[in-house]
Amino acid sequence: MSSLTTSQQQALAENVWLHFFQMGHLSSLGARPTVLVRGAGSRVWDQEGNEYLDGLSGLFTVNAGYGRHEITAAMAAQLDAIAYVSPFSFPSLPMIELSAKLAALAPTGPRSRVFLTTGGSDAVEAALKIAKAYQRRRGFAERTKVIARRSAYHGTSMGALSVNGVTSIRNGFGPLVPGARHVPLPYRYRCDFCGGGCADDTCALRYAAEVERLIEFEGPETIAAIILEPVQNSGGAIVTPPAYLRRVRELCDAHGILLISDEVICGFGRVGGWFGAQEMGVSPDIVTCAKALTSGYAPLGAAIVRGTIADAFVSERDADKLMHGITFGGHPAACAAALANLQILEQEALGERSRTMGDYMQRELRAALGDHPNVGEVRGMGLFMAVELVRDRGTRESLAEERLMGWLSEQLKRRGLICRADDRLEPVIQLAPPLVITREEADRCVAIVADAVHALGRKLGTAPVMVALPAAEPLAVAAD
Ligand SMILES: Cc1ncc(COP(=O)(O)O)c(C=O)c1O
Repeated sequence: MSSLTTSQQQALAENVWLHFFQMGHLSSLGARPTVLVRGAGSRVWDQEGNEYLDGLSGLFTVNAGYGRHEITAAMAAQLDAIAYVSPFSFPSLPMIELSAKLAALAPTGPRSRVFLTTGGSDAVEAALKIAKAYQRRRGFAERTKVIARRSAYHGTSMGALSVNGVTSIRNGFGPLVPGARHVPLPYRYRCDFCGGGCADDTCALRYAAEVERLIEFEGPETIAAIILEPVQNSGGAIVTPPAYLRRVRELCDAHGILLISDEVICGFGRVGGWFGAQEMGVSPDIVTCAKALTSGYAPLGAAIVRGTIADAFVSERDADKLMHGITFGGHPAACAAALANLQILEQEALGERSRTMGDYMQRELRAALGDHPNVGEVRGMGLFMAVELVRDRGTRESLAEERLMGWLSEQLKRRGLICRADDRLEPVIQLAPPLVITREEADRCVAIVADAVHALGRKLGTAPVMVALPAAEPLAVAAD
């Protein structure tokens, strides 16, 4: 029996519309959804009292962990003072402070200007518009194309969707915004050039040469920007080789193209430092961020723009301004949440913690699963990790089973871990716990992943081994 009331059950069946979710699975009155009602640190509880480790930080979002009263108190104080300030007309105090803080942290330099949005898609949307408008102002009205990478996810609004490299998400909504072009993704495990493994930077530079070839083919005078993630989520924590990123930066400089680093997931300690591009020694022209900017306590995103680019929109002439805006962009309570959140990340050195815990978890995952026949690779950067699943470890043959990811997600959840089994590219288990995860929770997380992968092996008939879960702090796991 579900603990929802009959009218809540009815509303779920008829009125609720989750995102990227087949609501048909919840539309019978007997459906038993997991309704999360409480969180503390890295753990969440559902309405029936079952406890889970949150192995995905909500959706790569709750970096500072759940139950942070510093953040909720800052939001309440701001809402009590003034609930709303129009970003079309007035700066709010938290907006001023947050813009200064982001400019100080971002790899776009201290004179960056910060365009605040409500989330990631509209941060990407703003970045693309700024890039195109900037090129036009420099006298390059023909520069309207944007290069992105195949299989990358950059959001769902029409501009962001158009540069999206996930075909199944992009298709079905055409006509899309014209001008998006896609290059192959440097994907070390399944490298197109060496077959996989890439001993050094040779393949990375060959992938960068693909970008160069596309620029030449299209004509540099038609290209406004290149957008990419330092560590790409879609496909499972695929780390961009720094040599590739540096070469792409050089190509952008040589051809007057803007480099947009989409750090909607990578930002705010997820991969170690404040931003992924910084960690790789590259300075982009625009950084897009959202999610952990507030650790999920409020919706907020930003396009952080290098000062020399933003200057093109700043003058005494009204006609020079950027013709773009969002009613809730930079909402004062969201900015207050972000400031309190950034203070926590800084004071508790959670970026550094992400680095050390990420290294530890990757090591432990390799120790537990390194020779499992269905595990191709454990990879990632900081607490942004993935386990790629294969049919055969030796041949790297893909595991292309219908509905396997749903089954695997359920296996993980039954064992007390919420995380994502995803097969937008190859099947992967994605892991990105809150940066406050304890050593015991990390061990528990690894043990559950290992146990679920062994269950997968048994299902596929490849691995009969059982793994005992460590008897850590009790996690009240759903019975079935
Ligand atoms: C890299 C990247 N860019 C953009 C987005 C879109 O962000 P939002 O869902 O907040 O619109 C996402 C969302 O997951 C993302 O991962």
